[in-house]
Amino acid sequence: MSTQPLSPQTVVAVIGAGAMGAGIAQVAAAAGHPVKLYDTRPDAAAQAIASLRTQFDKLAAKGKLTAEAAQAAGARLVAVAQLADLADAGLVVEAIVESLPIKQGLYAELENIVAADCIFGTNTSSISVTAIGAALQRPERLAGLHFFNPAPLMALVEVVSGLATDRAVADTLFATAAAWGKTPVHAKSTPGFIVNRVARPYYAEGLRLLAEGAADCATLDAVMREAGGFRMGPFELMDLIGHDVNFAVTRSVWNAFFNDQRFLPSLIQQELVDAGFFGKKSGRGFYDYRAGAEMPAPATAAACTHPAAITVCGDSAAAHALVERLTAAGVGFVRSTSSDGRMAQAGEAVLFVTDGRSATQRAYESGIANTVLIDLALDYSKATRLALASAAGCASAAVDAAVGLLQAAGFKVSPLADIPGLAVMRTVAMLANEAADAVNQGVCSATSADAAMRLGVNYPQGPLAWAEKIGLSSVRDVLAHLGASYGEDRYRISPLIQRHIFAGKPLHD
Ligand code: NAI
Repeated sequence: MSTQPLSPQTVVAVIGAGAMGAGIAQVAAAAGHPVKLYDTRPDAAAQAIASLRTQFDKLAAKGKLTAEAAQAAGARLVAVAQLADLADAGLVVEAIVESLPIKQGLYAELENIVAADCIFGTNTSSISVTAIGAALQRPERLAGLHFFNPAPLMALVEVVSGLATDRAVADTLFATAAAWGKTPVHAKSTPGFIVNRVARPYYAEGLRLLAEGAADCATLDAVMREAGGFRMGPFELMDLIGHDVNFAVTRSVWNAFFNDQRFLPSLIQQELVDAGFFGKKSGRGFYDYRAGAEMPAPATAAACTHPAAITVCGDSAAAHALVERLTAAGVGFVRSTSSDGRMAQAGEAVLFVTDGRSATQRAYESGIANTVLIDLALDYSKATRLALASAAGCASAAVDAAVGLLQAAGFKVSPLADIPGLAVMRTVAMLANEAADAVNQGVCSATSADAAMRLGVNYPQGPLAWAEKIGLSSVRDVLAHLGASYGEDRYRISPLIQRHIFAGKPLHD
């Protein structure tokens, strides 16, 4: 029998009336619970409730709620002046300052106030649920209930079990979050839980590409959006989150994993933090947001004519999309098989999808001087931009022919420096590898990892499903080549990926 959610009659106490606490209070009140809001800042709870009532009225005006439902939801919110007023709570969710001793102190005090069966949910993003629970007489009643900002809009809730958490408590929170209209996922209390761990390579690989001169921020952002299908590129996203916050999360995950190279912070971001260039909120970050400043345009190759001789080779997703797009554009080509993985020939250029080696290494190993690599796209038939890199010895006429071919197929082309794995492929391979390790270490299931990344950070596809689409062996090859290029443990391949390749089984359970 599946676990029941808390009944709507259960009093929900929310502690901390900041951005997250207010959002959680809104969700619980909308779901029918009487909600008590408490904050140590005088009037903070009352002010938050006043603005939540306005929020409910606005939802009613937009037709998302009836006027009666909005009125009733607003009336279910009560500000309380002291913790002692929370004695009848069946669930206490804490969204206060991110400090272990303060959170521990709060729960220790609450244990003397609430009933023995009251459940504690912490909204912490980065503190161990196990460590918070250590201060409790009954740590089994505590679990993470990690919402994403803004809580009323973001569907994901990570239900995080510490070492002492009772599974029944986690199951009740899971069922309750689902009853509140959210998509909960179970996670084990490990650094970053699911989302804040698996997302690290999105920033880290972007920062490495920038550090190694692959391209400028605007170009890399455009490639990640227009080829990778991500809503925002890594640099604009870090500017939005704030470098102080993003760098602190990276550092805390890196420290918590005992300085595992996988999570190594970036000197480029450290510089921004040191300079006070926190991003959008401070007027400067990777981009300049001050009045009058212009956003730089991505580097896009000038128009090149496509060569008369075009051959599309093999059966890869990229080749199929190229056939489709050239046909739609009325550009003539011939088809052939591919014995060495090439996906096209354009005049003298030979095009391959990156396998994690640089174009120059690949040219050296294959003897094909005019090697041109293209990056991964979420969907080659729909992408509007593609990144490309050419081998050091590639003739400029061959590069132009490759660019001309891709332009004829309707892509804007962003040439990158010859960096192993290019931008989208390298980032997606590392996201999938991190998700696979989280699954391998029992943090969550493969389905939960994918759902968490789609719903918590709006990825266009779960990284594990994406890896399966690319082909697990191809992802393994990209990582192995990156590892060989850099000689770093950072690119070590998750045992889960290896095992599933050998077993011939998909990653999803
Ligand atoms: P915030 O700074 O907007 O609000 C925190 C509120 O807690 C303030 O109103 C403060 O007066 C109150 N407060 C502090 N200590 C208190 C105490 N001992 N008792 C009662 N009230 C207290 O912070 P925000 O952004 O709402 O975050 C709160 C928590 O949620 C943190 O643990 C944070 O890590 C976590 N979180 C934040 C997310 C975000 O994107 N901002 C996302 C998910 C989790």
